[in-house]
Amino acid sequence: VKDIRWGILAPGHIAYKFAAAMSAVGNSRVESVASRDPERARAFAAKFSVPRISEDYEALAADPDIDAVYIASPNACHRDHAVLCLEAGKAVLCEKPLAVTADEAETMAASARSRGVFLMEGLWTRTLPAVLSAARAVRQGEIGSLLRLEADYSFDFPVPGGHRLIEPSLGGGALLDAGVYLLHLARLFAGVPPKEVHAVSSSAPTGVDLQTLIHLEYDSGLLAQLSCGIRVDGRRDLRLIGDRGVLEIAAPLIAAETALIRNDRGERRIDEPHRKNGFEYEIEEANRCIRRGLGESPLVPLDESLEVLRLLTGIGAAGF
Ligand SMILES: NC(=O)c1ccc[n+]([C@@H]2O[C@H](COP(=O)([O-])OP(=O)(O)OC[C@H]3O[C@@H](n4cnc5c(N)ncnc54)[C@H](OP(=O)(O)O)[C@@H]3O)[C@@H](O)[C@H]2O)c1
Repeated sequence: VKDIRWGILAPGHIAYKFAAAMSAVGNSRVESVASRDPERARAFAAKFSVPRISEDYEALAADPDIDAVYIASPNACHRDHAVLCLEAGKAVLCEKPLAVTADEAETMAASARSRGVFLMEGLWTRTLPAVLSAARAVRQGEIGSLLRLEADYSFDFPVPGGHRLIEPSLGGGALLDAGVYLLHLARLFAGVPPKEVHAVSSSAPTGVDLQTLIHLEYDSGLLAQLSCGIRVDGRRDLRLIGDRGVLEIAAPLIAAETALIRNDRGERRIDEPHRKNGFEYEIEEANRCIRRGLGESPLVPLDESLEVLRLLTGIGAAGF
């Protein structure tokens, strides 16, 4: 089997995690890296033994010896960087959130679909074995009919001025950075979109939301209570209550390696430790889809990424 040759666009904080995970994935490698600053690309390439660096993002997109690009730039750059690569025929794994508005995400999806090129949001939590096992258990009725979902992803990050997390022009804010995980997990466990959404936020002086509380209501009667924040130390866990039992995923929810199911038959623990740092599963999923010629991933369907962005846009993400 030929290696899938990855290019990394924007070697920032999270790209280091991606490159570290690549060592745990077979039949694929990081072939080149592109930065706005060639020195940063060189340092990254040296650390991970990446054989080449690209002159800039455009050169990476145009490189005929690259099969797929991992986009790790700030949220507000995702659309332009993804479209640049998709138009050049590259498969794209784009960091979460797919974009900062539903309109931007639609543009990306249309670009990929019109060319039959692969596009996936890097919502790595939806590819983790523990999360997939937990979702299977729920689908198989281990906790009965779903009544309530409670989930939090709030952290207290001492954000320096201008940091992408609080900078509106870079797509900052709790909803776009943290809330996106919760809406995806709600989609995964509920299996359908909500019929009603209510939210309240408090904002930073820059205008982005510092924290948001979201209530979702489903046709089935399921209610979800989600909270996200970037300057609030929350529980970062999940609890799903059914009429026959409870599923719990402990902190740190987004990197889950375990889940606990309690029902009338007792307790069952799901234990699925990462082989590396957890990013290996999203890379494997993208590789599997690209090899099969799929346009999108069944684990992180493009339509669900669009649906989540519609909800985020409706709540007011990118609009504070
Ligand atoms: N999956 C996860 O667990 C996870 C965790 C954290 C972040 N993320 C996502 O990953 C993406 C990057 O986050 P990060 O924490 O890695 O950010 P970061 O450390 O700031 O890195 C972002 C990189 O983007 C490039 N860039 C391009 N245009 C830029 C601009 N106008 N301003 C600033 N940087 C620009 C820079 O690289 P060059 O200048 O070198 O090209 C920079 O190093 C975001 O979409 C975020 O939501 C995901």
